[in-house]
Amino acid sequence: MGKATQDLRKEHKSILYVLEIVDKMISSDSKKDIEKIKYYDELIYFLKVFADKCHHGKEENFLFEELVNATLLKDGGPIGVMLKEHAEGREYIALMDEAIKDRNLARFNVNAIKYSQLLKNHITKEDNVLFQLADELLDDKKQEQLFERFEQYEERVIGHGVHEKLHAMIHRWAEDFK
Ligand SMILES: [Fe+2]
Ligand SMILES: [Fe+2]
Repeated sequence: MGKATQDLRKEHKSILYVLEIVDKMISSDSKKDIEKIKYYDELIYFLKVFADKCHHGKEENFLFEELVNATLLKDGGPIGVMLKEHAEGREYIALMDEAIKDRNLARFNVNAIKYSQLLKNHITKEDNVLFQLADELLDDKKQEQLFERFEQYEERVIGHGVHEKLHAMIHRWAEDFK
């Protein structure tokens, strides 16, 4: 497994971990609506910053570009499907955000469940198909270069402080929704 794909697989594990917590948040009746809204606001922040900007950003700006260069696959191919799913995910996040601003938890839940299903399927496809292909097509040197670019990008869009903050947030959610 290459260094760059390994980094993305690790991020998939973090995203899946959060999605498991989301399932618990939605089905939990131990918190009042007003409390749930606070968690969901934080969750939307995590999805926007980490899942979309950082993780999907690394894929779209660097890995996919590299794969397109290596295979000439673009629209209609597996990368086209992945890009379409990233865009769908963004739409669900926007709908979740809107629902929370309107204090409409039922609407939030519908879109959060759809988002969660979409992303779980998406991650399965990337882990089992696209990243396998990337590992076959990109040699160690290419993977190393990609990883370096990931690191620079991550530092630019997230930075150390926000990373720590996200970790602390996820840890607290896991404690509050056991
Ligand atoms: Fe993706
Ligand atoms: Fe991904």
